[in-house]
Amino acid sequence: MEEKYILAIESSCDETAVAITKGRTVLANEIASQVEEHKLYGGVVPEIASRRHCEAIYALTEKALETAGITKNDIGAVAVTAAPGLIGALLVGVNFAKGLAMSLNVPLIPVHHLRAHMAANYISAPELKPPFLCLLVSGGNTVIARVTDYTKFEILAKTRDDAAGECFDKAARAMGLSYPGGVTLDKIATKPDFKEYPLPFPKVEGSEYDFSFSGLKTAVVNLIHNREQKGLSVDVPVLAATLRQRVAQMLVNSTIGLAKETALKKVVVAGGVSANSELRRLMTQAANENNIELFFPELKYCGDNAAMVGVQACYEKGRANAGLNARATMDIGEEF
Ligand code: KG4
Repeated sequence: MEEKYILAIESSCDETAVAITKGRTVLANEIASQVEEHKLYGGVVPEIASRRHCEAIYALTEKALETAGITKNDIGAVAVTAAPGLIGALLVGVNFAKGLAMSLNVPLIPVHHLRAHMAANYISAPELKPPFLCLLVSGGNTVIARVTDYTKFEILAKTRDDAAGECFDKAARAMGLSYPGGVTLDKIATKPDFKEYPLPFPKVEGSEYDFSFSGLKTAVVNLIHNREQKGLSVDVPVLAATLRQRVAQMLVNSTIGLAKETALKKVVVAGGVSANSELRRLMTQAANENNIELFFPELKYCGDNAAMVGVQACYEKGRANAGLNARATMDIGEEF
């Protein structure tokens, strides 16, 4: 494990983030969110995201150094999210990181975004170490992986179509909720009512643990349209709670099912959707019933941030050369 100061950069979507970490300790965690601007368009506009990263990244770096109370010359390595994500957005962080590493003459560590989300758990749980089972739920990905070592992953289940976060975001949009839909939906949701809103529990044929969220999203959209056509109103907080519970049930079922099948008694949840209150409630309940040790990141580390990138970087053995490129897609088990 690297025990020097790491300057970490994250720009895979709509948050520009720079952190300073040392081992699992976070000395600075600066984030410039673009959410308010993308809200106007109902989702992330990739070109705007890249331009805002470009504008924010230098000042954030200076701020992170100041917060950590160190200078550029104390930095032992630069880490950067290089995949997966919006390609134009990633390229801003990757190029800035390359220039910085080159000028400081320190190693450049490329980090996989999902590995970083998982590492968010290492910050709040210093005792946590592999092996464990990890549910990674974000806006673009939903996978369950067996984590055998800090950089060794085996995908045991995944979504066949939309990610859980995408399902929340798109269904929330159909409900007239503001971007980012998953966050708003979780805030306004009240009590579920499956009689009034009979949402399906989608199963994937031939695979007990894989997910399919697109049918669930379509069921919400159709339900709203049918009601509108009949002149019936929709109780949005109740529908939101119904969808939230269904998604949480699907995630918990597969995760706990796989934990039992693999006999892994430690479960880690990560990614933006790990902030979801119903997922936290149902997963905690199921983990207690099955004698499973459960880990969630602190809420401030659930969404995109650079602290998690720095922490994962201290376990990564790969070093990038000057030719490092960003990748829009990449499996969590692949190496740069
Ligand atoms: O991990 P993340 O910040 O970005 C990606 O790497 O994709 O995840 C963003 C996703 C969005 O879909 C957002 O709506 C969802 O996480 N999200 C939530 C909650 N907070 C964030 N979904 C449900 N409930 C939440 N509390």
